[in-house]
Amino acid sequence: MKSGRSFIVIEGIDGSGKTVQSKKLVRWLNKTGFKSCYTKEPTNGSIGRILKKMAKMANVDVRVEALLFAADRLDHLNRVVLPSLQKGYIVVSDRYVYSSLAYQSVTTNDPEWVAEINKFAYKPDLAILLDVKPSIGLSRIKKYRVRFEEEEFLEKVREKYLEIAVKDGLKIVDASRSIEEVFQEIIQVVENFLRID
Ligand code: TYD
Repeated sequence: MKSGRSFIVIEGIDGSGKTVQSKKLVRWLNKTGFKSCYTKEPTNGSIGRILKKMAKMANVDVRVEALLFAADRLDHLNRVVLPSLQKGYIVVSDRYVYSSLAYQSVTTNDPEWVAEINKFAYKPDLAILLDVKPSIGLSRIKKYRVRFEEEEFLEKVREKYLEIAVKDGLKIVDASRSIEEVFQEIIQVVENFLRID
């Protein structure tokens, strides 16, 4: 068994394929001889469940939401990520702090504050941004006609993600291609990172 112990995060707007790709990556890592596990944010823990309940309510303060995403993240780190890393796993997280830095910076219009409340979230070992146009992302998850405001919102989130990727060194992968093509590029990035020959 090769030793892993790395924290890899997969980011991107809704419909970018994060969940499919993260799960494929975990299967591939396990087949390659690493110990790897899949996890996600928002979590299914107690704070994550409150978050999801609130998401269905109208008029939720965007700052309350931002604080809950941050609290859920700290809970996720303590309860899942750190214990798994300590056991030697390569932890693959479907969303992490960059989701808040992108989405909540747009909803609150206060990126400094969002960064401040997420200060505890240390840098992952590798972060991959699955970049796709919102029109393509939304067409993958919605059968009905996409609401214009939603596309416009995700356009702002995408811009924020790209800005963060340049600043924080996220690897950008073009996610407009087929699942298999995108996955091959993700494997290349991960192999490079793990330095597998
Ligand atoms: P998503 O990954 O779609 O989770 P699920 O499959 O459980 O619904 O995330 C749900 C939404 O939450 C998505 O639109 C992005 C948003 N989100 C944030 O705005 N900030 C965050 O920090 C996180 C983790 C998610």
